[in-house]
Amino acid sequence: MADEPLILGIETSCDETGVGIVRGHTLLADALASSVEEHARFGGVVPEVASRAHLEAIVPTMDRALAEAGVTIADIDAIAVTSGPGLAGALLVGVAAAKGYALAAEKPVYGVNHLAAHVAVDTLEHGPLPEPAVALLVSGGHSSLLLVDDLARGVTPLGATIDDAAGEAFDKVARLLGLPFPGGPPIDREARAGDPESIGFPRGLTAAKDLAAHRYDFSFSGLKTAVARWVEARQRAGEPVPVADVAASFQEAVCDVLTAKALDACRANGIDTLVIGGGVAANSRLRAMAEHRAEKYGIRVRVPRPRLCTDNGAMVAALGSHLVASGVAPSRLDLPADSAMPLTVVSVPGGAE
Ligand code: KG4
Ligand code: ZN
Repeated sequence: MADEPLILGIETSCDETGVGIVRGHTLLADALASSVEEHARFGGVVPEVASRAHLEAIVPTMDRALAEAGVTIADIDAIAVTSGPGLAGALLVGVAAAKGYALAAEKPVYGVNHLAAHVAVDTLEHGPLPEPAVALLVSGGHSSLLLVDDLARGVTPLGATIDDAAGEAFDKVARLLGLPFPGGPPIDREARAGDPESIGFPRGLTAAKDLAAHRYDFSFSGLKTAVARWVEARQRAGEPVPVADVAASFQEAVCDVLTAKALDACRANGIDTLVIGGGVAANSRLRAMAEHRAEKYGIRVRVPRPRLCTDNGAMVAALGSHLVASGVAPSRLDLPADSAMPLTVVSVPGGAE
């Protein structure tokens, strides 16, 4: 609706410079500049390279988003920016830009949590999120299960990875298989031609003895090692590595654990909505398996389209819009870039300057 506030969101926590503009739940612009190709030859994101790329991209990306939405900075009602968690230097570029634009155009600014934004983005596709809901957040840096009681004010962590994040496991296994970085998309592609049952890779923290202490936690490091050992054994024997079968079997193990634990959290808490976010939510097998398994429990699975799952500015704008609509006060103008921002803090509090 035209009378809903116009919110601009800035994202620079990792390797994507994103600026999104939303009005209510309507996405008006989603401009993105990625430095992913500059990191590819290192097999992972290089923080200094990412910071420099953000610095070069932030103003042009901002201009593109405003042009795409057909508005000027004067039309914007509030600016939201990822305050954390993420790479310190990368976050600083977005936070400094947000403060600069907010000061110059006299707009309120919200420093927001990147992970909460990964949940909020789904409202752009599926409308308001029923609360409470369970959220499964799976990205390159995080794997968490949360209870979303109130997305504007607080979420309750249920569990998280105790070692590698799900996306990190995809990236490391891809490297092992000679596939490019980031590894999620090529593994997803290769897996389509493979047999997911061909190799029985381990399902971390699912044995009865682990469930007592780690019911909602994840572990992917043992799986990654198992894939490495399996591939090495093949290579030592001078046999070709069946990349598609390894990719499919690895992907099946990850998706099996993620969906089983997420649905267990829904059922144990009497919740009928599961929202999945973060880069790994773009995975085709994860989406299909979650929907298929949820159906028999009457649980609705909400996953945004792949472009909105990976990092972008629209997700930050979506959370900003939800904060404004919920009457949450803007952050102080001295809001920090907090690389270790806790999951329980949805936005940096306001208060006297
Ligand atoms: O959310 P995101 O863009 O950045 C972080 O906040 O980390 O997530 C990036 C991660 C990478 O590890 C990438 O390999 C993974 O998401 N990813 C995927 C797929 N697309 C991206 N993993 C599995 N399947 C995919 N289709
Ligand atoms: Zn992310």
